[in-house]
Amino acid sequence: MALSVRPIVGTRCKITALGTYVPPQIITNQDLEKMVDTNDQWIMERTGIKERHKLAAGLGVSDICVEAAKKCLAARGIEASEVEVIIVGTVTPDMMFPATACLVQNKIGAKGAWGFDVSAGCSGFVFALQAGVKLVESGAHKKVLVCGADANTRMTDYTDRTTCVLFGDGGGAVLLEPAEEGEIGFIDYQNEIDGSGATALNLKGGGSLNPPTHETIDKKMHYIYQDGPAVYKFAVRKMAEATSKVLERNGITGADLGCFIPHQANKRIITATADRLGMDPSRVIVNIEKYGNTSAGTIPLAMETAVEEGKLNKGDLVLLAAVGAGFSVGAVLLRWEI
Ligand SMILES: CC(C)(COP(=O)(O)OP(=O)(O)OC[C@H]1O[C@@H](n2cnc3c(N)ncnc32)[C@H](O)[C@@H]1OP(=O)(O)O)[C@@H](O)C(=O)NCCC(=O)NCCS
Repeated sequence: MALSVRPIVGTRCKITALGTYVPPQIITNQDLEKMVDTNDQWIMERTGIKERHKLAAGLGVSDICVEAAKKCLAARGIEASEVEVIIVGTVTPDMMFPATACLVQNKIGAKGAWGFDVSAGCSGFVFALQAGVKLVESGAHKKVLVCGADANTRMTDYTDRTTCVLFGDGGGAVLLEPAEEGEIGFIDYQNEIDGSGATALNLKGGGSLNPPTHETIDKKMHYIYQDGPAVYKFAVRKMAEATSKVLERNGITGADLGCFIPHQANKRIITATADRLGMDPSRVIVNIEKYGNTSAGTIPLAMETAVEEGKLNKGDLVLLAAVGAGFSVGAVLLRWEI
């Protein structure tokens, strides 16, 4: 099939640089075997995860963003002072407020920038990305830094075997700029939210509905709650639906993609989606064994893996896809222009 790129109103936008970061400390499946009734074989077979990273005490998710942002800006060869907007996708902000974007802005010295956070669970990076793309396409800004990162180990109950094996810490950042003559960059997206899924995946304590009390702590409401099988079913169905819509709308199939970069929540969800898209498994990016589910961090981390493995090259069509708390669903089609 032939890609027919629909015209957009305004300037086309592209990714011009990528940087990622995971903290050095690692939690292996063997470490988890000592904490809860689980084993390496169950975790590998049901999730594909071997190890995940953990942020050191005294640091916040802003520190992951800062490390990633510095690498991203260095790769592009620009100063932080040139960044006009910072958008951070995260559900594990350093604090309830101010926004993590403000903390990142100050730490990297992006003196002229404004910015904000996007809360969309594991779709956080994809949603933040689209917000940034629209700021560039509209002509309002020329240099937008989009971070996706989470410090999930902070919100994980290490006595609950159904969730503690899944989550890790890490993230990344990309720089968005106007595309050059002849470049395509971002092509299309399909983002959705469905709040009827809020009961299946959430963190109930600490917000305005359930402000922190001894009771909320005793009830473990400050930890991630997940109905795993319900999330699994939704994720498999919606990842396939959203990605298929984007491909069909643009006259292409999975076979036209250079690679498919899905959110890394469970290897079985990735495989099921890739099968439905008819993707050659060698062009589906999977790094879940090293990082687990880093929520908004998974897609930039998987972009890095794709580059390292030589599967993401200039001119390639790339499809990103995520499903997360909300529920939230995001699929983005772009041409890689680096
Ligand atoms: C969480 C998840 C891995 C569980 O896998 P599953 O195949 O659905 O497993 P189930 O929840 O049905 O549990 C099967 C059994 O394994 C047990 N089990 C759960 N976690 C276990 C663990 N870490 N080790 C060993 N056994 C475990 C369960 O207690 C259950 O035992 P039972 O049959 O005696 O009741 C899977 O549901 C999943 O990945 N869900 C989506 C997660 C996700 O995407 N989250 C983030 C959204 S972005």
